[in-house]
Formats: sequence, C-alpha cells, structure tokens
Amino acid sequence: MGFYDRRFCSYTPQKQRRNLYRKLTRKVLAHVNNLSNASQESLRRVEQITGKKVNFIKGDIKNQDLLDNIFATYPIETVIHFAGLKAVGESVSKPLEYYDNNVHGSSTLFKAMEQAGVRKIVFSSSATVYGQQPQESMPIKETASRSHTNPYGHTKLLIEDMLHYQHQAAVRSNSSWKVALLRYFNPIGAHPSGEIGEDPKGIPNNLMPYITQVSAGKRPYLRVYKGYNTSDRTGIRDYIHVVDLAKGHLKAIEKLQEVSGVHAWNLGVGEGYSVYQMLARIFHKRRQVPPNHLI
Ligand SMILES: NC(=O)c1ccc[n+]([C@@H]2O[C@H](COP(=O)([O-])OP(=O)(O)OC[C@H]3O[C@@H](n4cnc5c(N)ncnc54)[C@H](O)[C@@H]3O)[C@@H](O)[C@H]2O)c1
Repeated sequence: MGFYDRRFCSYTPQKQRRNLYRKLTRKVLAHVNNLSNASQESLRRVEQITGKKVNFIKGDIKNQDLLDNIFATYPIETVIHFAGLKAVGESVSKPLEYYDNNVHGSSTLFKAMEQAGVRKIVFSSSATVYGQQPQESMPIKETASRSHTNPYGHTKLLIEDMLHYQHQAAVRSNSSWKVALLRYFNPIGAHPSGEIGEDPKGIPNNLMPYITQVSAGKRPYLRVYKGYNTSDRTGIRDYIHVVDLAKGHLKAIEKLQEVSGVHAWNLGVGEGYSVYQMLARIFHKRRQVPPNHLI
C-alpha cells in the first residue's frame, strides 16, 4: 500500500452513512503492491482502523499474468492506480527505471483491464504535468498547457496520453473508458488516528516528512533552498491534506458513474505556502519555537 492508498482504505469506511461510501467499501476488494516503498504493517493498521479485511496481493503491476488472475478472481469494477515511483531527483539519475516501472507498469495494467472488460480507472497523476507555468496562471487550471521538466513528469504525461488514446480506440469499437486523471499537488498529513502517516523509506523527498524526521532527531537539519523568486526566496507549494485527497478520489469515482471519457481534475487547495510559512505555521500552532537546526 502506498501513502494514499493506505489512507484511502482507512478513510472510506468512516462515511458509511452515505450510500456511495457503503458501495465503495464493499467494492474495495484487491490491493496489489510490490512493497518497493511500503510495509505490510500499514495494512494491519488499515484493517485495525476500518475493521475490514484487506485482500492484499504482493506483486508487481508489470506482471500481466498476475493481473489477469486478479481480474478473473475478483469482481473488480474500478481500478485506483497509485502504483509508481515518484522521486523527481531519482528519476533524473535513473530514468529507465522510471519509464519501465511507471509507463510499462501502467500499460500492462491497462492491457489487463481491457482484456477483463474493466474500463473505469482513477489514476494518480500529478501537478508536475503542468511543467513551469507563469505566475499569472496561478492557481493553475486543468485547461493549462502540459509539459515536463524531468523523467518522472514525463511518465505521468505519457500515462495520461495512453489513457486518452485507449479511450479513443474504445469509442471507435463502440465502447468507452471512464478515466479520472487526478493531478495531485502536494499531499501532506496523516490519518486522524495517528496510526498511519507518511513514513518514507530512505531520505524523504517531501518537506513534511523531512520536518517530522528532523523534529524527532532522526536527521540533523533541514536545508532550505533560497533561490526562488518569492518574497522570502523559498519555494511555494500548494499543500493538500491526505484526507481531502481521499475524499477527492471518492468524488471522482462517484462522477465516473455518470460520465464517460477522460477527465482531468486538480487536487489542491489553490493557495500556496512557502517553506518558511509552513515552518512558522506548524510551530506557531503548537506554541513552539522551531528548533534552530530546522532552519
Ligand atoms: N506524494 C506526492 O507528493 C505525490 C504528488 C503527486 C502524485 N503522486 C502520485 O501518487 C501515487 C502515490 O504516491 P505516494 O506518495 O503514495 O507514493 P508511495 O511510494 O507511498 O506509493 C506508491 C506505491 O506503489 C508501490 N509500487 C510502485 N511500483 C509498483 C509496481 N510496479 N507494482 C506494484 N506496486 C508498486 C510502492 O510500493 C508504493 O507503496 C504515485 O503514483 C505518485 O506518483 C504523489
């Protein structure tokens, strides 16, 4: 399970009053993960929080035999595709690994879906598909032009395009795909229980787990890059809480009951915070002074 999938699973059953959520909890059936960046302990905690059994299959989405088997075993209606490598810097040093895992993995998954007649998918895309946008385009709309500045971003663009072309091909055969491209901005936070949160293997690639690890004494300091054209010279990002992100997935699935075709939706709050603003807000809220080594 990945970062969102863990919280997605655990979040869903808390909304059982609503029919959609009830339907979804019945339909979240199979979870596939190769555990390259996950631990089974998080699954145990999902089961503990939700009181539901997680049907976990350890495996890789590049393995089509495995996927065919899963589609034959479970009555799957919708795929939520989180699986991927996601570190921008690493993608620059290991581009082939990223294209193989993300693009080949996705095309294998889509082939298995097509063969099984499962044509509804929510895909974890990224705001990185917008590349560099001018200040006047902020907040970025879904209609903004797409481009890429690194292999990771390119894999997301390619996967989005694959889904567009696959839908067009299906329409020519009197069928259709239902696709939600969810373009995440910067997800942060944890499940309110505190049982599951972001706990990356290795050096964190994101600001919040880095701050957490420095605060906990696991890392000596946070190095802040100050070369941006912003008021305090630190990078500004749009941060979204993971529970809001999970709600976004539920909304997307709900919408796909009504519409066909490929739809891109941003998941962000439309407002940015600089690194210094984030540090100030986190520690001000707790009436604490940031430890010196944090800045
Ligand atoms: N975290 C972010 O800032 C962010 C922003 C935008 C988009 N996304 C996208 O959201 C998705 C989930 O991100 P996350 O932050 O939860 O990352 P994550 O690494 O926690 O989750 C991805 C999961 O996919 C699994 N995985 C990777 N390759 C696989 C494969 N070939 N077969 C089976 N399992 C595989 C990993 O073990 C991991 O558990 C990713 O696709 C990522 O690109 C993340």
